[in-house]
Amino acid sequence: MDDTSTTLTAPAVALGTWAWGDSGEAGDGWFGSRLSASGLREVVEKAQSNGFTTWDTAVVYGMGRSETVLAQALQGYDRGEYQLSTKFTPQIAGDGDDPVADMLEQSLDRLGTDYVDLYWIHNPADVARWTPLLIPLLKNGTIRHVGVSNHNLEEIALADQILGEAGFRVQAVQNHYSLLYRGSERAGILDHCRENDVRFFSYMVLEQGALTGTYGPDHPLPAGSTRAGAYNAILPQLQALTAAMAAIGADRSATAADIATAWAIAKGTIPIIGVTKPGHVDGLSRVRGIELADDEIAELEALADAADVDTRGGWEREM
Ligand SMILES: NC(=O)c1ccc[n+]([C@@H]2O[C@H](COP(=O)([O-])OP(=O)(O)OC[C@H]3O[C@@H](n4cnc5c(N)ncnc54)[C@H](OP(=O)(O)O)[C@@H]3O)[C@@H](O)[C@H]2O)c1
Repeated sequence: MDDTSTTLTAPAVALGTWAWGDSGEAGDGWFGSRLSASGLREVVEKAQSNGFTTWDTAVVYGMGRSETVLAQALQGYDRGEYQLSTKFTPQIAGDGDDPVADMLEQSLDRLGTDYVDLYWIHNPADVARWTPLLIPLLKNGTIRHVGVSNHNLEEIALADQILGEAGFRVQAVQNHYSLLYRGSERAGILDHCRENDVRFFSYMVLEQGALTGTYGPDHPLPAGSTRAGAYNAILPQLQALTAAMAAIGADRSATAADIATAWAIAKGTIPIIGVTKPGHVDGLSRVRGIELADDEIAELEALADAADVDTRGGWEREM
């Protein structure tokens, strides 16, 4: 992303750090992953050296912990070598005069920086109330670009109108979008973004690990984690899809996860992939060379529909 012009130059893939919020013993247990500071530093080094330099986080990922751990892992890199994407979450807004500025200030503090490249309204609690508070932050340069997450078409339009009155615009949308969850496509949000030069960042492309082929009925997601509660019961229904992804990947020396990511790119979106291991970054490098054929995309989408599962997150609404 370009931090000096008003045009958002988006990456092909961004890196997600929600799971980093429960790294170590003090995490929130959403992912149940065993992550260490040294392991995450390795992820950062591999990503940065392979040109993956856009990092997505949020205050609510481990209640500040993801931002803190990310900043530690990025230590030593020049600020211009990476881009930071974080979020204002209305549901935890404080009661000061300007809760957006307050939450941003705390994020900047944890991230060890004085600006954020891409700042999101995380959830559309009250678009007319929260969106205007972004304008002074755009004007003073503490946020360089603005996006909205989990907003439907009407809410995107309202946010864009509010920003437009001050000479700014919604430059990006960030929604759940995976083979299993294509609500934004059905609702016309992908088309809207394409037609209006808005970048669509897709999150949970790998369905928190359930669409990677790493996990299955015999080797489920980590016991006791929130994601296990969400996905373990449906893993049997995903087997035909993950097997097809693996088969398509095998022809290209790629994995099922690589194919899920390549699919999201083929659909015109920018996947935010929740990398937790250096090997995941190798996958993203492989994805650069993968172009899926139309019949492969159709086969994957048909198998995804046949799985007949609903992976809507508890914080999401129908689009
Ligand atoms: N705006 C929002 O409301 C919102 C909501 C959700 C997510 N997000 C953003 O989107 C990002 C992505 O979502 P997510 O992290 O929830 O889930 P995800 O990207 O669908 O899945 C991440 C999990 O998949 C596994 N994985 C990642 N890359 C892999 C690879 N190449 N091969 C095999 N396994 C791989 C890892 O599990 P293991 O550690 O078990 O290997 C990781 O924890 C988040 O980190 C966050 O930045 C935003």
